[in-house]
Amino acid sequence: MTVSSVYPRHSSVDDGRLSVGGCDAVELAREFGTPAYVVAEDDLRDRARAFRDALAAAHDGPGSIVYASKAFPCSAALRLFADEGLGVDVASGGELHLALKAGFDPARIVLHGNAKSSAELAAGVIAGVGLIVIDGADAERLERIVPAGRRQRCLIRVVPGVEADTHESIMTGHAGSKFGLLPEEAAAVIARPRERIEIAGLHFHLGSQIFDGAPFAAAARTLAGLGSFPIYDLGGGMAVAYSRADRPPAPADWVRAVADAAHDALGSDCELLLEPGRALVANAGVTLYTVEDVKRSFVAVDGGMSDNLRPMLYGAVYEAEIADRVGDGELFQVVGKHCESTDVLVRDAWLRDPLPGDVLVTPATGAYGHAMANNYNGIPRPPVVFCQDGEARVVVRRETFEDLTARDA
Ligand code: LLP
Repeated sequence: MTVSSVYPRHSSVDDGRLSVGGCDAVELAREFGTPAYVVAEDDLRDRARAFRDALAAAHDGPGSIVYASKAFPCSAALRLFADEGLGVDVASGGELHLALKAGFDPARIVLHGNAKSSAELAAGVIAGVGLIVIDGADAERLERIVPAGRRQRCLIRVVPGVEADTHESIMTGHAGSKFGLLPEEAAAVIARPRERIEIAGLHFHLGSQIFDGAPFAAAARTLAGLGSFPIYDLGGGMAVAYSRADRPPAPADWVRAVADAAHDALGSDCELLLEPGRALVANAGVTLYTVEDVKRSFVAVDGGMSDNLRPMLYGAVYEAEIADRVGDGELFQVVGKHCESTDVLVRDAWLRDPLPGDVLVTPATGAYGHAMANNYNGIPRPPVVFCQDGEARVVVRRETFEDLTARDA
């Protein structure tokens, strides 16, 4: 039996038992404990290649898929994407450090941030990052930081004033956004030539979980009003399927729509960068939990808002299954173990006879789960386990109770 499209590619269900990357989910839980983030390595590779090939097919000029590392800042995933020839988007000194350690060619790194510190700007310059994305007063600061005789290539992040149809917390291209410069502010930076920085292009990021290419066309037209540049970076934001009701575009269709939007407004004679984050990782990952208690319609598991904040922050909808009894059952609410009433992982979960001790799996948790994990209630953060061809390996170990006191001074 094949599983719903929200699971990693090559997942399967035999006799009601779920396998991911060829590994039985219940056995993974036994071997590595729960909660655990389980990622199908092949799925990450397939998606990286699909995006890369799609861009090569949709755009004749130079172009790069620049992985938005905030979605899953895990060294093993970063190494894999570096290996697949992607670039990387980093939004802090910490993400820059991870990307460099994972082996990314600095020239393929794009440094973002609406509140970069001077130390972060200097770290980017010293590392030789390919592009720094100017927000706020970064241009003046860089002019002081870049050594004499060098020119740092930069993009300007522009607020295109476009409201993408998504949750307001993950919308970033609208006029009231804290990210980027308004077109008139960007024009003022462009109009003032500087010795040590080169404005090589423009950038926008409209937000996340966007299903439709139309807002990209509108935003690209705003960029066109600022002149012509060698590089355009149209950000990330491609929607993924969190539940089987979601029908996101395929990478090829999405890339084609965004590239067409760029070509129509900006011409095809440019270098084109796209920055998918979740679309590369969300559906590659699942989270395994142990059911600790079943009471009325509540199924309580051994994790929750410490390993997946998204339901709480955005009302994000997920699915769940009992890992060895996959299939429709009765309606339950999957809740976490945290001292918060809103610590609900899955509001409507159709589960077959959930019992304490069962392994429960939530699919599509590869993006912004590990990334936003926290230690609320003294819960150690889960490990990340990569699976491929029936082999599983820990790529991030589980935190220990000792880790909880490791920073005590
Ligand atoms: N590029 C830039 C400049 C970004 O700020 C982001 C995400 C991306 C690319 C990638 O967006 P994606 O393709 O992953 O949608 N914590 C929220 C998401 C915040 C995203 C912030 N920026 C969530 O869990 O939905």
